[in-house]
Amino acid sequence: MPATHDPRPIGVFDSGIGGLTAVHELFRVLPSESIVYFGDTARLPYGSKSKETVTRFSLEIATFLVRRNIKCLVVACNTSSSHALDALQRRFEIPVIGVIEPSVRAALASSPGGRIGVVGTLATVGSGAYPAAIEKRLPGANVIARACPLFVPLVEEGWLDHPVTRMVAEEYLVELRNGHLESLILGCTHYPLIAPLIAEIMGPVVRLIDSGAEAARATAELLAERGQLAAGPPSHHVYLSDEPRRRSFSRIARAFLGRELPPVTVVDQTDLPWFERPHAVSDLDSAERPA
Ligand code: DGL
Repeated sequence: MPATHDPRPIGVFDSGIGGLTAVHELFRVLPSESIVYFGDTARLPYGSKSKETVTRFSLEIATFLVRRNIKCLVVACNTSSSHALDALQRRFEIPVIGVIEPSVRAALASSPGGRIGVVGTLATVGSGAYPAAIEKRLPGANVIARACPLFVPLVEEGWLDHPVTRMVAEEYLVELRNGHLESLILGCTHYPLIAPLIAEIMGPVVRLIDSGAEAARATAELLAERGQLAAGPPSHHVYLSDEPRRRSFSRIARAFLGRELPPVTVVDQTDLPWFERPHAVSDLDSAERPA
């Protein structure tokens, strides 16, 4: 443990609340760290949007978080990591940690034959970011990537072990299952919630890589190396760009985070720049309305 401490929070963002799967792991590996989380619930999903749009949204959110004095930024969203990481790293001086490099490192460590699968949103898979990162470290690797766009709405519906989800997963994963893979990167914030189902379909030999958890562990390593760990006590805050309207919001958020949500603030979009006008939500459950 270094002698110096850095009490500033870690910033984490995602297109929605799926990135709380990364925060779940941050809580485990860095229990003394404070976290400021931004979920862009007003503009989700990112997975069907263009590189330009995803990059603009990501830069706006990062600006919001940097103004909250964060010491590093974790891009929990795979789609943002695929499209906007370079732009974020160029724009800001603090370290910006994406999910791709840490996941690729973990996948290579458990894939001596270089047979790696990747699943993600249309944008993530379309970007080719994962295969490019694997190829850079292991030229000639055998990578199979597959977009699974229906997984996000199925997880948000809470259908984690529903027959429909099982049917969809079997359809999406057929080529991957026949690919003699050693590991499969879950390249989307939502997929860890259906990891048991994916593991069952892929079989016991294939190691599943949770991209958010890998990014959290990479963040712990980086802060330790830089002598920037916090000594606690931690305090956490969640910002959302739109009010949660679904009755199931708290339940889904708990499933992602593994515990109750910290205090939530919804940022007001009426005036530009919308991210400058936060207002507090005092009672999250009263903010929920039937759809
Ligand atoms: N958070 C996104 C990702 O990890 C999934 C949801 C979306 O499409 O915005 O790619």
